[in-house]
Amino acid sequence: MGTIHCISVIPNAVKIPHSRRLRGIHLYPIFAGEPNWIQCERSIIPEEANGSIPVRFSFIVPQAMTQENTPTIFAAEKRAHWRALEPEIWSIQGADLDAVPTQSILTTLWDQPRWLEAYHLYDQRGSELFEQICGLPEYYLTRTENAILETHARDIIARAPVRCIVELGAGYSKKTLHLLTEQLRQRGSSIFAPIDVSAAGLRASRAAVRSAFPEIQFHGLHARYEEGFSAIDKNLPTLFVFLGSTIGNFNHSDFPRFFRTLSAAMGPGDFLLLGADRVKDVKVLEDAYNDSRGVTAEFILNVFDHINRLLHGNFARDNMRYDSRYNPEWQRIEMYAVARARQDIRFADIDAAFQWQKDEKILVEISRKFDPLRLQEQLRFFDLGAVEHFTDPREWFSILLLKKES
Ligand SMILES: C[S@@+](CC[C@H](N)C(=O)[O-])C[C@H]1O[C@@H](n2cnc3c(N)ncnc32)[C@H](O)[C@@H]1O
Repeated sequence: MGTIHCISVIPNAVKIPHSRRLRGIHLYPIFAGEPNWIQCERSIIPEEANGSIPVRFSFIVPQAMTQENTPTIFAAEKRAHWRALEPEIWSIQGADLDAVPTQSILTTLWDQPRWLEAYHLYDQRGSELFEQICGLPEYYLTRTENAILETHARDIIARAPVRCIVELGAGYSKKTLHLLTEQLRQRGSSIFAPIDVSAAGLRASRAAVRSAFPEIQFHGLHARYEEGFSAIDKNLPTLFVFLGSTIGNFNHSDFPRFFRTLSAAMGPGDFLLLGADRVKDVKVLEDAYNDSRGVTAEFILNVFDHINRLLHGNFARDNMRYDSRYNPEWQRIEMYAVARARQDIRFADIDAAFQWQKDEKILVEISRKFDPLRLQEQLRFFDLGAVEHFTDPREWFSILLLKKES
């Protein structure tokens, strides 16, 4: 305790009671008119603040959150770039994950055909909807992958003798708890570092890990995949975990770029555990992405509410519908938004507009399906050698354990 974090002004509208504790941070109010103005991080202004007096206040930060205590999971040369966003959650100094991804959205919406990058799906509501999808009867992926992990966690951890587990696109990290249980049983301690662009996901992951395994060192990284995994110390024996068949969301140029950079960031002898959904009966695949309750449709179309908020756009949700189908040539599910009627799309403050024609589709997400043996072969060219292949009795889903070879 005792470090004053930063100094500037709280917006006048914020009112807080005299003193309160917020997620482990002690707030000490300094009354209006006090000369030392105090700054706070936007993300930790108490939203529910409804106390008595408008104040300026200072953060007295627990030692664990100060620069000197940046965890040793980070490579020495990267350590200074990371700062505590809130307890046990780190982000890159100066990086603004809330910065509006204007270029990504506009360049892909102007492409032919129009499409969007998948990470825009995961605002707070998108993350919650994805969690609901994981529990849907039609969405066999989560249940099947979870069962494989439950059955084989002991073997996976025995074959990957590491001190740290880094999970990419962790979401709520529910399935990863099987690995953490085994890691603690076999090694007695562990570091767990989930990486996600979704702060909601990281907070849920922290809550799950904290309640099940108080002894685990938890360091959530609020970052994009590459920013997160490139910061990990190569000398720390690490198992990188990438579940949920999230690699299926990568298009054919994202895929090699991702594995090139991931492999380069891994230390010799590090491991990768990769979940991949398999090519199978088309009806099973199509039902999984077109559930009877319409949750997947809501998840996909929610991206337009998110974009409207980010860019002050005017996409009309009631004038679009969800459409998805399996494309056998590309072996992928394609998830589209289709205009029911022409929409004149504009973004306030940006000199950009387009006509979204009736029946025109915007490709919002893809989910590629894999042949696991071919995937294993392909990953050899990224210096990731096959260690083991785990699957379920129906052979619907595969989890590959790979080892960085040089
Ligand atoms: C398909 S979900 C999978 C969640 C979880 N791993 C599971 O298996 O259920 C993808 C997750 O990756 C995160 N994500 C998407 N794009 C990302 C990116 N570029 N960098 C970091 N995280 C990303 C999302 O926020 C989301 O939590």
